[in-house]
Amino acid sequence: MPNERILIVDDEKLIRWSVRRQLEEWGYSVLEAESGTGGLAQIRSESPDLILLDVRLPDLSGIEVLREIKANNVSIPVIMFTGDPQLDDIKSAIKLGALDFIKKPIDFDEFQITVANAIDRSQLRSERDNLREEIKKRSGYHEVVGRSARMVDLMNFVRKVAASEASTVLIQGESGTGKDLVAKAIHYDSVRSDKPLVAINCSAIPETLMEAELFGHERGAFTDAKAQKKGLFEIADGGSLFLDEIGEMSTYLQAKLLRVLEDQTIRRIGGVKDIGVDVRVIAASNRDLEQGVRDGTFRQDLFYRLSIIPIFIPPLRNRKEDILPLVDFFIERYNFRFRKGVKGITQEARDLLVQYDWPGNVRELKNAIERAMILEDADFIRPTYLPIQVTGQAPGYENTIPVTVPDNSEIVASGIIGNPMAAWRPLPTGRMIPVLELPKEGTSLEEVEREFVGLALKQTAGNQTHAAKLLDISRDALRYKMKKFGFDSESES
Ligand SMILES: Nc1ncnc2c1ncn2[C@@H]1O[C@H](COP(=O)(O)OP(=O)(O)OP(=O)(O)O)[C@@H](O)[C@H]1O
Ligand SMILES: [Mg+2]
Repeated sequence: MPNERILIVDDEKLIRWSVRRQLEEWGYSVLEAESGTGGLAQIRSESPDLILLDVRLPDLSGIEVLREIKANNVSIPVIMFTGDPQLDDIKSAIKLGALDFIKKPIDFDEFQITVANAIDRSQLRSERDNLREEIKKRSGYHEVVGRSARMVDLMNFVRKVAASEASTVLIQGESGTGKDLVAKAIHYDSVRSDKPLVAINCSAIPETLMEAELFGHERGAFTDAKAQKKGLFEIADGGSLFLDEIGEMSTYLQAKLLRVLEDQTIRRIGGVKDIGVDVRVIAASNRDLEQGVRDGTFRQDLFYRLSIIPIFIPPLRNRKEDILPLVDFFIERYNFRFRKGVKGITQEARDLLVQYDWPGNVRELKNAIERAMILEDADFIRPTYLPIQVTGQAPGYENTIPVTVPDNSEIVASGIIGNPMAAWRPLPTGRMIPVLELPKEGTSLEEVEREFVGLALKQTAGNQTHAAKLLDISRDALRYKMKKFGFDSESES
């Protein structure tokens, strides 16, 4: 027996009475409203399963009510009633998303089927939505938060791209803007979502290994090739391959990649046969690839091929309206993770977050909130617990981590960040180094180096390019050290 709730919005009492009687006979519960505004109020408070809406109402027209419903993103199906069908009304109602039109006097046999179909459809849709949510959760794909017009447009575009047949997508944006997240959204919102999303970071692996990873090899193709191995293109067949930091790919592999994109076939190393693959390549770069083309480090033909569908994620400083919604989102997430009940953030702290430029973009903001949530015991996050870069030298916002006599490396490190001037002296080259005395028992130069690599990564919110610059070493050297010291380059430091 169905027990869905149906709202009738009609000013004629007799119609409401006869429709109610029928619907109740069929097992539905019925709500009534005799005006447009009354109807809207009931939709808001009761959230019925189906709305039956008369075109002529005493206050708002049925079309206006429908427009209001859709403007509020309410997905409840709407069936329109009319005594005198006007083509214009029908057209606008259909355009606005009305499901069907019922002519008065009502033919109740037809009406019964229309109502049942509408209810079925909305149930089907909510089941499908639940299923999607489930898939998203399982795959770790979280919501992309963004209220700014630029992010709203971008996500609409992303949805279109996801649903399209596009075989290559290029995502560009500074470090921490959400390229990984958008790549996941593209995959999990597409028909490919039940096939694998395979990701590889082009900067982390030497060229020869990378080639074998991507294309696989036959047995005996080279000394170490003891067995045949499938490449990532084959593993990702039917799904998506995420090539992160594509700007770092060698020109030799760029040429091979271009061929794969054009032919949709790969050949394993040492193999003779071409293997067809159906893979959407999602490439990402935080380097300006056009500049790479000008410098000769990135192939122009590959750039053109990849940038058929370009997505550029703007830096956070250019979409400041997103800062506070992101803050709320992260507070909610860390409340859950840390089992805390932080309610929000003080006005002062908000202002500071909005003023700050966020060179490390959303990742830096996320790390700042995570840190504040760990330290804050009050209901609202206060400026004291925001990183010093954010609070600046503003009076009253002292860094909370005490600068004490260094007796363990954690505090040494934090003391240096917290107290930039007091403990530093210039070298003859003009660079600053911390004033420290060696402990009597000595220390390990390597461990000191590790601390500094860690600090640089922390201070730049994991941005390797900036961290390398801070330490005056090349990005490759930084990567080498990260690997050596066990910093995970994939994780968001
Ligand atoms: N719009 C957003 N909504 C919610 N979380 C976001 C958003 N953008 C980024 N994040 C979060 O910020 C962090 C950094 O994002 P992501 O790893 O996607 O950046 P990226 O552009 O790939 O950076 P990199 O160039 O360093 O690889 C992630 O934890 C991600 O979930
Ligand atoms: Mg990334």
